[in-house]
Amino acid sequence: MYSPTPADWREANRARWDERVPIHVASDFYEVEAFRAGKDALRDFELTEVGDVTGRSLLHLQCHIGLDTLSWARRGTSHVVGLDFSEPAVETARSLAAEIGLTPDQAAFVAADVYDAAQAVPDSAYDIVYTGCGALNWLPDIERWAETAASLVAPGGFLYVSEFHPLTDALDDAGSRLTYDYFSRDPWVDEAPGTYTDRDAGTVHNRSVEWTHTIGDVVSAIAAAGLRIELLHEHDVTLFERFDGLRRHDDGFYRFPGDRPRMPLMYSLRASRPSA
Ligand SMILES: C[S@@+](CC[C@H](N)C(=O)[O-])C[C@H]1O[C@@H](n2cnc3c(N)ncnc32)[C@H](O)[C@@H]1O
Repeated sequence: MYSPTPADWREANRARWDERVPIHVASDFYEVEAFRAGKDALRDFELTEVGDVTGRSLLHLQCHIGLDTLSWARRGTSHVVGLDFSEPAVETARSLAAEIGLTPDQAAFVAADVYDAAQAVPDSAYDIVYTGCGALNWLPDIERWAETAASLVAPGGFLYVSEFHPLTDALDDAGSRLTYDYFSRDPWVDEAPGTYTDRDAGTVHNRSVEWTHTIGDVVSAIAAAGLRIELLHEHDVTLFERFDGLRRHDDGFYRFPGDRPRMPLMYSLRASRPSA
């Protein structure tokens, strides 16, 4: 239900994420064994829109267990830094980096709140600041997030966001009826057990506090933080069975059947800082 922001939102969310890390590591969804063997975790549109990362530095905010971060590293970055407030997630990411042969100079992971990123990460700026699916909904203040993320973009660099479309937060389980308030400023507070990789997982830390940030709010916050919006794409695919009727295709994306009108399920955005 929607409710005013509870004082313990951060602790509740962190406990939820900490508990889910081992479940995610063992899941088919994340395919950690295949990743160790070389599988790339990134989405095709991300690779196209981010472009060649060879020799560039990359900061991944809310990196979870580091699969996306390390996939960028495997593509030839000078170095990557992943940040997440979940210690178990960061520990997992560090272990995976070592297992695939990356040194801490090539791939470092930091446990910190995203709002403290500027103080927590080793460099003052990065060529690419990346954030991936299912990140912004955990943050109460999108303007403060945009200021933090933009402050870490080097001159000539860019911020890249790949996210679930906020419209999907407002729809029922079939994805067909507007059921929740797209414009709510209050968070959605829930107690759902399990996780997206295993709905039946027996979990005890189930409280979650999540916010919807409209496309307008995200774009405006990034522009107000001084970056120039280069692209904003909406995608008719998603990464899991978010709604009844979505089917997984051979490319790994989930789509509705072809006879259904399409709607945006994800979006991606690139915003740059001009060269000094
Ligand atoms: C859905 S995951 C990101 C998933 C990532 N794109 C992936 O699929 O691996 C969201 C991550 O945000 C982290 N997170 C949530 N709130 C945070 C905060 N305030 N500061 C830092 N990390 C946070 C969680 O610990 C979790 O690892």
